[in-house]
Amino acid sequence: MTTLTFMASNDTVAPSYPPSAAFSEQANASAALYDEAEADRLAFWTTQAERLSWAKPFTEVLDWSEAPFAKWFPDGKLNVAYNCVDRHVEAGNGDRVAIHWVGEPVDDERTITYAQLKDEVSKAANALTELGLVAGDRVAIYMPMVPEAIVAMLACARLGAMHSVVFAGYSATALKARIEDAEAKLVITTDGQFRRGKAASLKEAVDEAVKESDSVEHILVVRRTGIDVEWTEGRDLWWHDVVDRASTDHTPEAFDSEHPLFLLYTSGTTGKPKGILHTTGGYLTQSSYTHFNVFDVKPETDVYWCTADIGWVTGHTYIVYGPLSNGVTQVVYEGTPTSPTEHRHFEIIEKCGVTIYYTAPTLVRTFMKLGRQIAAEHDLSSLRLLGSVGEPINPEAWRWYRTVFGADETPIVDTWWQTETGSIMISPLPGVTDAKPGSAMTPLPGISAMIVDDDGNKLEPGTDHGEQASGYLVLDKPWPSMLRGIWGDPERFKETYWSRFAEQGWYFAGDGARYGKDGEIWVLGRIDDVMNISGHRISTAEVESALVGHSGVAEAAVVGATDEQTGQAICAFVILKASAHGGAETMVEELRAEVAKEISPIARPREIHVVPELPKTRSGKIMRRLLRDVAEGRELGDTSTLVDPSVFEAIRASK
Ligand code: WT7
Repeated sequence: MTTLTFMASNDTVAPSYPPSAAFSEQANASAALYDEAEADRLAFWTTQAERLSWAKPFTEVLDWSEAPFAKWFPDGKLNVAYNCVDRHVEAGNGDRVAIHWVGEPVDDERTITYAQLKDEVSKAANALTELGLVAGDRVAIYMPMVPEAIVAMLACARLGAMHSVVFAGYSATALKARIEDAEAKLVITTDGQFRRGKAASLKEAVDEAVKESDSVEHILVVRRTGIDVEWTEGRDLWWHDVVDRASTDHTPEAFDSEHPLFLLYTSGTTGKPKGILHTTGGYLTQSSYTHFNVFDVKPETDVYWCTADIGWVTGHTYIVYGPLSNGVTQVVYEGTPTSPTEHRHFEIIEKCGVTIYYTAPTLVRTFMKLGRQIAAEHDLSSLRLLGSVGEPINPEAWRWYRTVFGADETPIVDTWWQTETGSIMISPLPGVTDAKPGSAMTPLPGISAMIVDDDGNKLEPGTDHGEQASGYLVLDKPWPSMLRGIWGDPERFKETYWSRFAEQGWYFAGDGARYGKDGEIWVLGRIDDVMNISGHRISTAEVESALVGHSGVAEAAVVGATDEQTGQAICAFVILKASAHGGAETMVEELRAEVAKEISPIARPREIHVVPELPKTRSGKIMRRLLRDVAEGRELGDTSTLVDPSVFEAIRASK
């Protein structure tokens, strides 16, 4: 790793924000939780697992004998859907609202109680069984944020079938790759989706994606927008035909704790996305535990809102499994934050009385740019806790978030985790931690993380003055919601996460970090070829492969450059083939559109530069670090290993 050094900035001496005495007094988690976990880690996780309802109790906590393939609570059995739905009804809370659903069109709303959710999930489970689904089968879910998407996920979980949710903003090509890799038998989708007031087709992309599929038997379609869809008789089925007439009686079967629960594809350093595998007991244990303690939820009174999409892991863990396992009431919003106006989120907070709001730094910065007068027009006094996830939150945005959303009072939990970790790993506990704006602070009770140098030596806490070295963020002990592998590729799993510190047996997260003066963790971002665009993970290789897929492109190199709004933005450098038509300018627009079509609009490069050559080392590796210098307008770093340092004059000239 190139050792970065950081000058002590104001942030290292900035004041910290302790919780108010009133918040601490009522908080679910006190400092004792750290002591309890410290005293006996596995006993601590036993206690957390016992918050769930086990059909067959476990006697063993962790089997790490085949590391890095963990088994948590291996001899226990449980049903995830039962834990997220049925048991709340059985406890007498069937009338509690599970989901306040807010559609993108104004006044298009639905309220679903836990009893109603149980009926819907049972019906869907019966319908899926009728379609031949059995435990272990894979189901692709490609849907906007409609209640049926959550019902579909829970129905899969109830049957022990694995869902693979694919973000509805992804292209047909991306969907196809994911369906094929998982060999999905069923795809669940909608006719279309609303985006900024317009209905756009979704089913069309599914038709395209399954054209050559050997595995897909049916496409189950929820009618959402009413737009016309093409129909293949026998293969395509309407949700309202198949699910609505199914019985509400369904007995959940208990599955082994290590039974697979879902796959979620995420970008790695190559062009091929990885199917991250999560399993049952450990995942639900940590999802539920972190949701309860980090968000301090009071199921009887809180109205919780996580603004993520179910297409990402945040939606899996903090919309579906965490909140529902804890029996809370939550808001689920279908649309974009600024539709029909930039008041939308504030209106929802006000109208639903949202008490806990969990969002991404990029959205906070968007609101910041729009100005505080928008928030000022709304009563946000119901909010008592704020959360952040997806990328480091810059201290300025943190303070603005607390001032404008939190009346200068609410705690903010900056939660560090990954698709692979399954749930939150590093975060303040809101009633305990003196939070520092911009730092995710310390590992949660039961979790162990360290920042180490190239040789695996733990770094020293920083100081208030002088330079602080950064290092690798590693997880040195297994945790319950850890990924259990990459679908179909155990070697890639070991190579990607466990090879950097193989000797020590540590998981390397791909992030660089440094310690602050009190030993708190400051995550600096990815140090591999993975970019973070508005909290979305996109690999440079994926975008490069979409670019060279265009007939006019000879070579492409992609880097993530710092962007005020989105954290990072995609900058591409391409060499055109002599045969490329239409000149550089038309090509640039065509290529930007091509990437959006091949991957997703979120992967559309901010800028594409047509260059005569790319900077390469003697071994032929593209020097991305130098391209990043160019993209960010910096002086060039060390160019001594380049074959031809003069290429930069040409690259600069093209900017
Ligand atoms: C990467 C994981 C976690 C769910 C959403 C993203 C970055 C995430 C933080 C944070 C600093 C963060 C890391 C991580 N990241 N949260 N609070 N502070 N960085 O999940 O797509 O798997 O991405 O997001 O770089 O490795 P993901």
